[in-house]
Amino acid sequence: MSNKVVVLGSINVDTTYHVERFAQPGETISAKSKSSAPGGKGANQAVAAARSGAKTSFIGAVGSDNEGEYMREALKENGIDIHHIMIDQYHGTGTAAVTLDASGQNDIMIYGGANQAMTTDVLDGIDDVLDDADFLISQFETPQEVTLEAFKMAKEHDVTTILNPAPAHDIIPELLHYTDVITPNESECALLTGIEIADEESMLKSAEYFRSRGVKHLLITLGSKGVFYATPTAHGLVPAFKVKAVDTTAAGDTFIGTLSSQMKVDLSNVADALVYAQRASSLTVQQMGTMPSIPTAEKVKAALAE
Ligand code: ATP
Ligand code: RIB
Repeated sequence: MSNKVVVLGSINVDTTYHVERFAQPGETISAKSKSSAPGGKGANQAVAAARSGAKTSFIGAVGSDNEGEYMREALKENGIDIHHIMIDQYHGTGTAAVTLDASGQNDIMIYGGANQAMTTDVLDGIDDVLDDADFLISQFETPQEVTLEAFKMAKEHDVTTILNPAPAHDIIPELLHYTDVITPNESECALLTGIEIADEESMLKSAEYFRSRGVKHLLITLGSKGVFYATPTAHGLVPAFKVKAVDTTAAGDTFIGTLSSQMKVDLSNVADALVYAQRASSLTVQQMGTMPSIPTAEKVKAALAE
């Protein structure tokens, strides 16, 4: 199956610092090593979809700088259509400083740059990419006002919208009207609904919360515990694969991108698609790095066959 996926989102150059432990406020520590690679939630999700066979287009913005050129090339090399990536003359390309400790935990600081400066101008001429698209995905590293307009357009084109509300942030309530599938992790879900995720009952209550605001489908990612899904006709927990994680950065992005490459727009095969996407994420967490750790379909299928 080959879906067409459009991603509206962020593009960052990631610099990862490897440390023994995180610094305390006011403390200076030394990194053991550092490495740079393409990243950004939007870019990672697009690459995950493309590496799993989806025809993928990107809507976003970079600065008129070397980092912008580097990121456009990185997306193009993955077969992603980059015609709708604007070049912002006034703001730099987004960057992220990722600190990774010895236990594989990360913390991330982003500089929004061109991602955050994006306006609805970026949506000019996107009707052609939405025409035959299955999914439009967006996150919270670009302005929600732009996502809202894009999701409205998606609905006019009968495209299924997926909102990944990350990093955690309050939401423009109207955006939920135009969202078909929402994919928070536990803490993002609790922030949006006010319901702490403790058990199945709390997850079903969260699904009810979103459904009453217009969102049909809820997928809560639960890290190494797996994913809880609730559609209007079914719900359940699909467990994660048991692996030894060394770096979980981009686990969520791999999950969403690969899911969009496999899932039917009515979510009728959601349980199977969740197995594929979680197998993909389980490969990502076993590798160091963000975008470089996102697997190809070949690798995911081989792992599924193990
Ligand atoms: P991140 O912000 O680190 O990219 P996230 O918080 O958005 O991630 P998670 O719920 O941590 O998302 O992870 C997404 C999916 O990745 C999980 O549902 C699971 O399938 C897989 N995953 C994450 N961590 C692990 C792990 N330690 N072992 C196996 N699978 C994992
Ligand atoms: O989800 C991981 C991503 O979050 C990183 O690639 C970083 O750029 C931040 O956007």
